[in-house]
Amino acid sequence: MSAGIAAEADELEQYFEETVARDRRIEPRDWMPDAYRRTMIRQIAQHAHSEIIGMQPEGNWVTRAPSLRRKAILLAKVQDEAGHGLYLYSAAETLGADRADLTDRLITGKQKYSSIFNYPSLTFADVGVIGWLVDGAAICNQVPLCRSSYGPYARAMIRICKEESFHQRQGYELLMTMMRGSDAQREMVQDATNRWWWPSLMMFGPPDADSPNTEQSMRWRIKRHTNDDLRQRFVDMTVPQAEVLGVTLPDPDLRWNEERQHYDFGQPDWAEFRRVISGNGPCNTQRIANRRAAHEAGAWVRDAAAAYAAKRERASRTGAVPPALRGEVRATREGGAHECP
Ligand SMILES: [Fe+2]
Ligand SMILES: [Fe+2]
Repeated sequence: MSAGIAAEADELEQYFEETVARDRRIEPRDWMPDAYRRTMIRQIAQHAHSEIIGMQPEGNWVTRAPSLRRKAILLAKVQDEAGHGLYLYSAAETLGADRADLTDRLITGKQKYSSIFNYPSLTFADVGVIGWLVDGAAICNQVPLCRSSYGPYARAMIRICKEESFHQRQGYELLMTMMRGSDAQREMVQDATNRWWWPSLMMFGPPDADSPNTEQSMRWRIKRHTNDDLRQRFVDMTVPQAEVLGVTLPDPDLRWNEERQHYDFGQPDWAEFRRVISGNGPCNTQRIANRRAAHEAGAWVRDAAAAYAAKRERASRTGAVPPALRGEVRATREGGAHECP
């Protein structure tokens, strides 16, 4: 490397460091270190995969929701999660990632998604508890990401967080309704809480002492708080909600610590966490098999969309309108409400 190029590289790096240190955003066209780009792609892709795989445990209940109202709410929520996945894949694309490649990494097990979605949803109370605890933990994790140093990710997170807080409230409202119902319904809520509590705590990742990348991520401002800090926030936020709901959180060590002004709580089973993230949780195989089947079954949609885009491109280049597009052009000229058929 010549002295001139080396000086320029130093300058770019310094500009990057200063931008991050001043809490300003890095945008897609800005220079960034390769390691930052790689880390951001991995973080955003894992987040996108989690949103998409996260549709499955609740999607499982769409056809069996107990009323039309509950079905409509659940359908809207699951659809929101698909939208979150799509914004996030788009954010990863701004870093040069290829969406087909990311999907391939997900279905071949090369990239991970949140361990929580490898647990089964056994009763309809699970739908409420997932909204309350899983979306609740997602909010604690994601609100600080609205200030991520990577601009497209930070902006996607603002909208996502608004929708996640709606999800949390719908889950809590469902549980409140069940708690006002029969003994059997109250037992279902307690049972679902018992099963989801510890996996929810695992959503914040391993204890700080076992999280070697935290320091670099904090310096790059792509992580704003440590795993243990976020876990504590979640526990502090959730315990009073459990009291209002009338359920018991399954942790004998859970108690208010007057001196710390926080709740003390027990540790999840970290051996189980490692088993689940390495592919041996109760539903890993099924989740990936479903995702793979959906991807394969959707191949014709991708082919049709690509053929349609190519046709439009040709038409705009030559000025000729192929027969397949004539109706659309007429509708647009006549003031049709939509652009695409
Ligand atoms: Fe989401
Ligand atoms: Fe959500």
